[in-house]
Amino acid sequence: MPGTCVVGLQWGDEAKGKLVDILTERHEIVVRYQGGANAGHTVVSGGQTWKLSLIPSGILRDGVTCVVTGGVVLDPANVLKELDGLESRGVRIGSKLKLSDRAHVVFPWHMLEDKVLDGSVSGGEAIGTTGRGIGPCYRDKVGRSLAIRLGDLYRDDFSERFAHVLSFKQRLLESVAPGEGSMLDGERILAEYRGYAERLKPYVADTTAYLLDAVEAGSKLLFEGAQGALLDIDHGTFPYVTSSNSSGVGVASGSGVPGRWIERVIGVVKAYSTRVGGGPLPTEQDNAIGMHLRERGREYGTVTMRPRRCGWFDAVAARYTARLSGVDELAVMLLDVLAGLPEVKICSAYEIDGRRVTQFPSHVDDLRRAVPVYETLPGWQADIDGVTRFDDLPKEARGYVARLGEVIGRPVSIVSVGPDRAQTIFCR
Ligand code: GDP
Ligand code: IMO
Ligand code: MG
Repeated sequence: MPGTCVVGLQWGDEAKGKLVDILTERHEIVVRYQGGANAGHTVVSGGQTWKLSLIPSGILRDGVTCVVTGGVVLDPANVLKELDGLESRGVRIGSKLKLSDRAHVVFPWHMLEDKVLDGSVSGGEAIGTTGRGIGPCYRDKVGRSLAIRLGDLYRDDFSERFAHVLSFKQRLLESVAPGEGSMLDGERILAEYRGYAERLKPYVADTTAYLLDAVEAGSKLLFEGAQGALLDIDHGTFPYVTSSNSSGVGVASGSGVPGRWIERVIGVVKAYSTRVGGGPLPTEQDNAIGMHLRERGREYGTVTMRPRRCGWFDAVAARYTARLSGVDELAVMLLDVLAGLPEVKICSAYEIDGRRVTQFPSHVDDLRRAVPVYETLPGWQADIDGVTRFDDLPKEARGYVARLGEVIGRPVSIVSVGPDRAQTIFCR
């Protein structure tokens, strides 16, 4: 069976990009199947750093096809900016990229709606979105009547469709945020999007048909998840989530490739927890530990530059998302960041209203009341960013990784000790 899937098991930024770049070597097609320009995936190689958002992290390798499927919400300006950036640094795109004609297109009104509605969660805290129009574009997809897909941009009736959607959007926005709707300049937006469509035309394809042909012919596919399973619209910490199925369950619906073709699911975790934006993070350390993690792990958002909230590893959450995503094995990333701490902790249960629980709560308000129950393990002082073999790690680091595998209930096959491709340990 030809498919491998890389999926984040936390709240995003688990270093999926690094792993996808490495695994691309053994695959022929790399597939982004959900999310949009809210994703920021980093690849570091030979002293160069690449930040990818909508373009799959396999693009830096030769002889690979990169596919953005219909499950993705696509901001064409962002795609073009990424392509220009890659080409200006010598990455040849040519026929390497395919964009689904089914992908829903992000328009300026989606960014405006994101800005206007983000703070309006009933009873409280803002979601703290990336402001990329992700939720509003997915809302239009599900709502259907105001949606525009990439393939629509090439149809004869595109101008009429655009005018219809624009007039609704202007009135809707005006009613909730006076002044915002009238700021939308239809003529300018239409001309801009016609320009984007022209430039993107060579890449637009029916990627569902392409991928089905590929799996049936035995091609090796690598699916690149965006965000993390705890941000999944159905199974995450709703409403503090993103608007797509970012856990393993989203692969089939987002790509059009049935799950039966996926033989290996790699769950990616950081050796600790981070979260950007609103919503509970039970193990959050708003103290010197949190500062250590943020500074050593350079925990600042790739897309929005916001400082990420940091805390101890949450195994209650990761065990849940590993099961949910059908994970076979684990990649533990950023292990080097924990060096220098006298002790390290793993949250292996919660106490909620005096009751000990190991099942991840389905309601966010129950999660807010969860008090972590920690296991404490010895830390290690030596830097490990130059270690290339598992056996050469300090015994405390080995013990910590082994315990993570045990509490999550899956074997650890990869450990990462630095951002570079070379700083990766294969355990088996
Ligand atoms: P993604 O969204 O899951 O692809 O992750 P991001 O790229 O947003 O964030 C991961 C960050 O950690 C990036 O800056 C990576 O360069 C960096 N990184 C990846 N692996 C390691 C590692 O093992 N150690 C350290 N210190 N940094 C890493
Ligand atoms: P990658 O792929 C971390 C978070 C936002 C916000 C919530 C909803 O790099 O791991 P959205 O703009 O999607 O409506 O925001 O989800 N978020 C991410 N956090 N990594 C990401 O992607 C994220 N994409 C969205 O911060 O809390
Ligand atoms: Mg990221």
